[in-house]
Amino acid sequence: MTEAGGISPPLAEVLARAARVWQAFMAGRSLDRALGEVVPDGSRLRQATQDVSYAAVRRRAFSERVIAELAARAPSDGVRALLSVALPQLLTDRHAPYAVVDQAVTAARADQATAFAAGFVNALLRNFLRQQSGIVERLNRDDGVLYNAPPWWIDQVRAAAPLEWRAVLAAGGGAPPMVLRVNPARISVGDYLQQLQAFGLAATRVGEQAVWIHDARPVGQVPGFDAGIVSVQDAGAQLAAPWLGVGAGMRVLDACAAPGGKTAHLTELAELNLTAIEADAARARRIRENLDRIGRQAQILVADARDTSAWWDGTPFDRILLDAPCTGSGVVRRHPDIPWLRRKADVAHLATLQRQLLDALWPLLGVGGRLLYVVCSVFPEEGREQVEHVVARLPGAAVMPLPGGSPTVCLLPVAPGSVAWEAGRPWPTLHDGFFYALLEKSR
Ligand SMILES: C[S@@+](CC[C@H](N)C(=O)[O-])C[C@H]1O[C@@H](n2cnc3c(N)ncnc32)[C@H](O)[C@@H]1O
Repeated sequence: MTEAGGISPPLAEVLARAARVWQAFMAGRSLDRALGEVVPDGSRLRQATQDVSYAAVRRRAFSERVIAELAARAPSDGVRALLSVALPQLLTDRHAPYAVVDQAVTAARADQATAFAAGFVNALLRNFLRQQSGIVERLNRDDGVLYNAPPWWIDQVRAAAPLEWRAVLAAGGGAPPMVLRVNPARISVGDYLQQLQAFGLAATRVGEQAVWIHDARPVGQVPGFDAGIVSVQDAGAQLAAPWLGVGAGMRVLDACAAPGGKTAHLTELAELNLTAIEADAARARRIRENLDRIGRQAQILVADARDTSAWWDGTPFDRILLDAPCTGSGVVRRHPDIPWLRRKADVAHLATLQRQLLDALWPLLGVGGRLLYVVCSVFPEEGREQVEHVVARLPGAAVMPLPGGSPTVCLLPVAPGSVAWEAGRPWPTLHDGFFYALLEKSR
């Protein structure tokens, strides 16, 4: 079997690597970080290991239940990890089931920590295959398995969206759609769609500048990406820069900027005096890379945005974008580890951090200036309740209506479908979950 860039690595090798990623994830590491530790970026193994690891995390609750039901004794951590990455592969049609079993056994034999259990791995996977449809049907009746999340997370989503909670959780389990932002200064969306068609790529316009590529692919294979004509950005995230309402020459602060998706978008809209702040130095480097690719610039500072005395020169800003750190409850399909790595207490901790950021940045806004508050979360503690706090406590704060007429917008994640965007629609037809509020300062 081949893939772009060469021959596919053997499945046994991929399963073995994914099992190491799994163990790091179970120890509390994010999937992205664990992958970086186990497989160097850009290697042929990376994409395959990533696919298998993400599939495993998307089925964590299911695998845990299967192992608990079919194993007479609790397996060791290494064996459990191998089973946890192999079982979800039996649910896809990417590999023949016998090949998955065979390669999982090969992977077990190749490692001292699991070699003793190769027969057990073989027996459990075969046993699962014999009973697969009955087990799947039965386990999926459990919301924890169906939505692949711990009970507190399901409760939290149900409380946040009492009518739509099932759709929100289901969207979190789907494959993340690849959505591009087309730079209108370089090409019209219509012309870009024609280019994609010429390349044989099925695509749909899902927002003002947003195009969904039906078959996600590495960015290097996306026409116009390397030239900076298009960028990868969810259509819901693409609302931020236009909704901030920037104009040429404005002093603009992007307060939590990495990896720079919205910073880059802002620079495409107008010539700005733009400062991008990011607390994490490694992530801040990605802002520069993103800007370099599209040939734009901003002043990038590594700082805690709350510590304004350390970085602010005293001149007020006309616009502030606060895309605050949050639970990420609206982007679970892109980060399936979120419900497992977060703890219930994180919601309150993050809400406190968001409030501190709002309190610290509000004085930096000039009179008549506007602050756009954004989180990629659907939890009210991080959205609506933050705005209530601003209006009640921060001097001169008023909520401005957003396009579509509502004072604030909470977009619930939408699964990819066939609805194309039409001119005049204020929101995209395909997007992750976001909360938006636009605040103006009157004094
Ligand atoms: C939601 S992400 C921003 C995404 C970014 N705006 C984009 O569109 O690409 C939030 C970012 O805030 C950073 N951050 C967290 N606390 C911060 C703080 N106190 N000051 C500045 N940045 C912070 C995080 O490291 C993270 O990169």
